[in-house]
Amino acid sequence: MLQVRLDAFGGPDELHPVEVPDPVPGPGQVLVRTAAAGITFVETQVRAGRPPWPGPGPALPVVLGNGVEGDVIGLGEGVDPSWLGRRVVTATGGFGGYADRVVVDAAAAVAVPDGLGLGEAVALLADGRTALGLVRAASLTPGDRVLVTAAAGGVGTLLVQLAKAAGVRQVVAAAGGGRKLALAAGLGADTTVDYTKPGWADALEGLDVGFDGVGGEVGADLLAAMAQMGHGGRYLVYGGAGGPMTAGDAVTARGLTLVPGHTVVRSPEDNRSLVEQALAMAAAGRLRPVIGQRFPLARAADAHRAIEARQTVGKTILIPADAAWSPARPGSARG
Ligand SMILES: NC(=O)c1ccc[n+]([C@@H]2O[C@H](COP(=O)([O-])OP(=O)(O)OC[C@H]3O[C@@H](n4cnc5c(N)ncnc54)[C@H](OP(=O)(O)O)[C@@H]3O)[C@@H](O)[C@H]2O)c1
Repeated sequence: MLQVRLDAFGGPDELHPVEVPDPVPGPGQVLVRTAAAGITFVETQVRAGRPPWPGPGPALPVVLGNGVEGDVIGLGEGVDPSWLGRRVVTATGGFGGYADRVVVDAAAAVAVPDGLGLGEAVALLADGRTALGLVRAASLTPGDRVLVTAAAGGVGTLLVQLAKAAGVRQVVAAAGGGRKLALAAGLGADTTVDYTKPGWADALEGLDVGFDGVGGEVGADLLAAMAQMGHGGRYLVYGGAGGPMTAGDAVTARGLTLVPGHTVVRSPEDNRSLVEQALAMAAAGRLRPVIGQRFPLARAADAHRAIEARQTVGKTILIPADAAWSPARPGSARG
């Protein structure tokens, strides 16, 4: 089997495709042949040796990635035989996802509903769960004006749609550049703002909710603008794609209600339920996973490069060489 292994923290060139023996499922486990593997932004930070949590990154060497979609092709002892041949989506225990075969506990696998195109289930695995958890935690009401940062990204494209579907008064999509703003508008954003332009936050008005997955200067500008509006609001901090994550203390000191991102998924059971909800919504046509780019698994380094260069929109997925290709359904962005 092929894995993409990280041998040293550093640039994308530290990601190396390697052949290793196929894994063997143990009791209660299934062997999955990967059809698509997901990449999340945080993996670029871990690879670079800058994990967004205190303390060191994982022990090396390590295979990054925490989500695949694929077919069950082997069963360990005690696993219900009806799993064999099923299309599933599954986390891989934190690591090990950049691989064309993975072994996971059968209990971790979620059956993929009919009607999703290749990669759409894995596009929703982490991002769908996160976006649904964030929107729930934000307790959106019809009068709310909501701003989404990185609105054209994996989580952001889902947040825009979910906020719009919640019937809020206004969804403001904030992102870098016209292509990204156009994508967010197409997903239902009422208005857009390019935060790479100086003074971008000056024209913001009456925000009640800020979804901050970018941090750094963008987070500081958004926080200052919301504080100046003077009527409180909910501020969700869940990432630092553009700099340090916005500090919780700074949020509360400015009179806003802090929602820390790590609290929005309440338990492993909640995690699974949110994933199932995201898949069901997509199968019913009520949530559109946007797959912006597909890279061959062996070229995971190129995918990391594109993500870090802010060239990507929506979700970036990796396709193993032996994965059966089936085009995404009409409407999904193509890479
Ligand atoms: N995926 C998950 O399940 C999950 C879970 C918890 C937290 N998060 C956090 O949520 C945020 C979004 O995650 P994601 O996986 O959906 O990624 P993503 O939004 O697909 O990609 C990150 C986005 O951040 C923006 N960005 C701003 N400054 C950047 C910079 N200096 N370098 C690179 N990108 C920059 C870029 O959009 P613009 O060019 O439009 O600014 C980029 O597209 C991240 O901070 C991540 O750590 C994600």
